[in-house]
Amino acid sequence: MIELLTETAIQEPQRIRGLEMPWNRVMGSTETPARAARALGPWHPQEFMAECVETIPEAGAMMTFVFRRCDGAPLAFRAGQYVNVAFPVNGEDQEPVDRSYSLSSSPTEPWTFSITVKCDSTGLVSPWVHENIKPGTVLEMLGPVGAFHLPDADRRARYLLLAAGAGITPIMSMMRTIHSLPGHADVVVLYHGSDAGGFAFHRELAYIASVDSRIKVYYSLGDRSIPEGWEGLSGRLTAAMLEEVAPDANGRQVYACGPEGYLNTATELLKNVGVDDTSIYMEFFSGDRQTLLEYQAEVALAADVAEEIAEEIAESAEDYFEGQPAAFGLYEPGYDAEGTLQASGLPLEIVGPETPGSDPSADSPGGEPEAGSPDASSFDTVGTGSFTMSFMRTGINVRIDPAERILEVAQRAGVRIGANCKEGMCGSCKVVKLSGEVEMNHQGGIRAREISAGKFLPCCSTAQTDLVIDA
Ligand code: FES
Repeated sequence: MIELLTETAIQEPQRIRGLEMPWNRVMGSTETPARAARALGPWHPQEFMAECVETIPEAGAMMTFVFRRCDGAPLAFRAGQYVNVAFPVNGEDQEPVDRSYSLSSSPTEPWTFSITVKCDSTGLVSPWVHENIKPGTVLEMLGPVGAFHLPDADRRARYLLLAAGAGITPIMSMMRTIHSLPGHADVVVLYHGSDAGGFAFHRELAYIASVDSRIKVYYSLGDRSIPEGWEGLSGRLTAAMLEEVAPDANGRQVYACGPEGYLNTATELLKNVGVDDTSIYMEFFSGDRQTLLEYQAEVALAADVAEEIAEEIAESAEDYFEGQPAAFGLYEPGYDAEGTLQASGLPLEIVGPETPGSDPSADSPGGEPEAGSPDASSFDTVGTGSFTMSFMRTGINVRIDPAERILEVAQRAGVRIGANCKEGMCGSCKVVKLSGEVEMNHQGGIRAREISAGKFLPCCSTAQTDLVIDA
């Protein structure tokens, strides 16, 4: 029997102030990446195999693919980040094609995770993905990657989330995350689509907006014709529309994802209404060439990091699992002689003619394990110049003059630092300065908080004193 409910006045829930990600306190109390990894710290990328467990058709020619890691571990990431996936589009015996996709699920439910892929019939990869990825398919992944994500803690938590088309995927992850967490927040979502039936996740969005008083969702149909009965907004993003949905945009953190033209317009409009540069975070959901290069550079850098920490994690995993209750053994991963994670647990059914990546083992970690802090005075010194840069991971001292760019001198001396634009724009050369002073003239490739955390871009920096660098 269906019983009609009468709306009654229900008080607002009492909440703690602001938002804090569940891992934040644990990470704050740990000292090394390996320890933080035990607590689902999402700060480093990993290489792993993942099995598709579900496919969910979405509106707008999109499909959500739900995965779980083959090693049984949860995937720790931040809402808004992406993974790089190797798709064997040309067959199992050919080089796979890499693509980066935003995670659309929430990191607060880390045992499975999802990507949502829009099918572009003219593209090489997305039609193949829609056609071929099924429950049981195993793929090689690297991640999480990306600086476009919610903060770990935010006492105000006032957000304006802007999405156009497939740009909704990282925004959806943010929405799901905020909805799953307690705490005060004030979220306005403005979602542009090109046709009334093409808004992915609209049923879930409607549900969230109806039960979570912290979140408001607006839709706009862009500049297409408006069908009868449409109750949302119409037209492209304008100052008037921003004013209508978020008159207090200045004062919110803005996260925007969509095509390049949309993001350019959003940047302009947000500046006009007084939103400070440092409060605007943008992510292209797909491919202009520069974005692809940036993604490639970031993924290449992440692959290096993943390799370096694999050994540390493999070493610490043994101690970790020994200290766990017996039931945890269900998820205990296996390690081969090189310390590479091997799948365990239920046998995996793999769809397709061959086992993809039958030997997925990444190369064994090549870096020398760090035994305590190395002593820079024992390093070889190369080059000439008035200052000395000590590269602690590489184990070399490099002399430099104050007029020379750090990246050039370091690379000449054989220090491996990934770099793309070499103009301070893309952020791919970012490294940590352990001591000393640099002068940096960047063009947006680094955020103020990263600089406060000791990071800098060697491509557009010069040395002002002797330096010690974590590279
Ligand atoms: S290489 Fe692009 S910012 Fe340094």
